Amino acid sequence: MEKYAEQTKQEFEGWEEFINRPVDEKLEAFKQNGRIFDVIYAQQFDREFLDAMGNLADMIRLLAKTKVGQSKLRHLLPHKRAMLYFVQPSTRTFLSFQNACHILGLTVSEIRGTSTSSEVKGESPEDTIRTFASYVDLIISRHPEAGFAEKTAWVLNQTDHPVPVLNGGSGPDQHPTQALLDIYTLEREFRTIGGLDGKKIAMVGDLKRGRTVRSLSYLMKNYQDVELVYVAPDVFRMKDDIKEFLNKHQIPFHETDDFESVMPEVDAIYMTRIQNEYSEDPTSEAETYPDFHLRQEHMSMIQTHCAILHPLPRRYEIDIRIDKDPRAAYWRQERCGMWIRAALIAYIYGVEQAVYEEFS
Ligand code: NCD
Repeated sequence: MEKYAEQTKQEFEGWEEFINRPVDEKLEAFKQNGRIFDVIYAQQFDREFLDAMGNLADMIRLLAKTKVGQSKLRHLLPHKRAMLYFVQPSTRTFLSFQNACHILGLTVSEIRGTSTSSEVKGESPEDTIRTFASYVDLIISRHPEAGFAEKTAWVLNQTDHPVPVLNGGSGPDQHPTQALLDIYTLEREFRTIGGLDGKKIAMVGDLKRGRTVRSLSYLMKNYQDVELVYVAPDVFRMKDDIKEFLNKHQIPFHETDDFESVMPEVDAIYMTRIQNEYSEDPTSEAETYPDFHLRQEHMSMIQTHCAILHPLPRRYEIDIRIDKDPRAAYWRQERCGMWIRAALIAYIYGVEQAVYEEFS
């Protein structure tokens, strides 16, 4: 594939100019009629949108509890077809998007690797995506390259047949729908204690290459008086672009490598694994960094309301005995992902009103 890419590398007119603009100036390009059309970066979500998605996800979740409710949901988008283009490993994001589509009645097709697509014949990923747009109404992509979803959405938007692109993870860069479900989970976990406003959150592990913590950090600007603690070994500290963003938006944060010292003072702990697939030698880092693991003995050190999240997959970062503790929110977090992704797809197609009407 590489050999073709090198020989045939061509650039789209206007792309270089677009990519170099600040994100704030690019948001409009992914909107249609004043609404989000493509979901590319977490910076696209404001508080109003996040609250609306949370409410809609709650309603979809309640409707899905009954046969009648499920049938109503399935009749919302049976005329739409989605494509899951997942060329980087995924279990949760793939399944939760697939099931979110099923909940709303969409038909789903999938490609789970480039080896069976025409990319083997030298087709560019942008042409491949454009081909999907000839057949389906929605493209959900996961790709190892940073900026992949952004580029394909931009390319499609230049054509006469654009379809929405949802970024299901773009390399070590962003994972906006994970951030959406993380917010939904935090808001639900804190429902009886005033929601996410005013809370202190520790993000732990590989903050340098973990796209989930990057996207989630961006969303903190939408909440009042939140504070972040970045807990990471020196080699995996959060990158400067995110720290600059927090400073710009006056979101207090500090960094430490002393996990135990922050345990008693935080309202949520967001654990992550070492992202060694991005290392030159992917086997080298897999089992190390025990100081950044949450162990059974830590449970008496954290607050009684502290929510423990993890985007999963987990390796050793969280002792499996913690799963039984009511503060372990990561399995609930997975299901939150399915509901909020269903809410997002319903919003993209403007059918949320039909859901609200069920509750009026
Ligand atoms: C995360 C990802 O792929 O970025 N997983 C997920 O989408 N739930 C986190 C990870 O792989 O560590």
